[in-house]
Amino acid sequence: MTRKGIILAGGKGTRLWPLTKYINKHLLNIYDKPLIYYPLSTLMLSGIRDILLISSKTDIELFKNLLGSGEKLGIKITYKIQNKPNGIAEAFIIGKKFIGNDPCCLILGDNFFYGSNFSEILFESNGSKENNIFLFYSNEPNNYAVCKFDNKNKLIDIKEKPKKFISNWIVTGLYFFNNDVIKYAQKLKPSKRNELEITDITRIYLKMKKLKFTKLNRGFMWMDNGTHRNLNETSNFVKSIQEKQYTIIGCLEEVAYRMNFISKSNLLKSIKKIPNSNIKKYIKSIINE
Ligand code: G1P
Repeated sequence: MTRKGIILAGGKGTRLWPLTKYINKHLLNIYDKPLIYYPLSTLMLSGIRDILLISSKTDIELFKNLLGSGEKLGIKITYKIQNKPNGIAEAFIIGKKFIGNDPCCLILGDNFFYGSNFSEILFESNGSKENNIFLFYSNEPNNYAVCKFDNKNKLIDIKEKPKKFISNWIVTGLYFFNNDVIKYAQKLKPSKRNELEITDITRIYLKMKKLKFTKLNRGFMWMDNGTHRNLNETSNFVKSIQEKQYTIIGCLEEVAYRMNFISKSNLLKSIKKIPNSNIKKYIKSIINE
């Protein structure tokens, strides 16, 4: 069984108006590269190579132009359309055929993750049979799905955008599920905001005592990039790390090479097509390490 990956890059991005009047949110820049590079690199770091990208009818071609078949990165990217923003959980229905009988991993196209040892955590999650979600300690929990723990620190409930304070631990947009997720998604009813909610899926797994969680502790950065402020903060974060450490976060060619998805000679071939730029210089430096 090889886990399949899904990136959901739909939605209207209304809070980012007028930028999203002419460009899909996930193609906006986080410092020096498109937002979509970061969740794609997260899937790749997990060891996932078969990836479905879901977006709207009007935008799907833009993603195809940017990422193509994935061949140069040693991965396979296929594309499907979400006709309307019917909710995150619809990704499992749209991706039913693609997932087949395999387990899967869904990542939201606007989610940015960065932290030491993250690739090990991801790789382990990919290899595990457990259903896993990733929790982040947030200052503004009520904008997300929020976790409720009992006094023994056991996860007992998850509420989508609650009105009252429950805890600071929120559910990030990265979900490792077994194949049952298709069945659960098909049974869901739309919520009050008329969406198939991902939180209804995580609650099903939780009720069945089949949900594990990984807390992303101090020193970890997570952001969903739904507002101008978020985009700006994440960009500044990427800029700081990259400049201080001479590293590039979300460099797809580097991830493909380090994950052994492509050989040195393939990497050399593909950089020939990259125009002179910081990223080209950086990739060259990796080859010569
Ligand atoms: C969505 C999910 C929410 C999750 C968040 C993480 O929120 O509904 O459960 O915590 O992504 O990014 P939305 O993007 O709809 O605000």
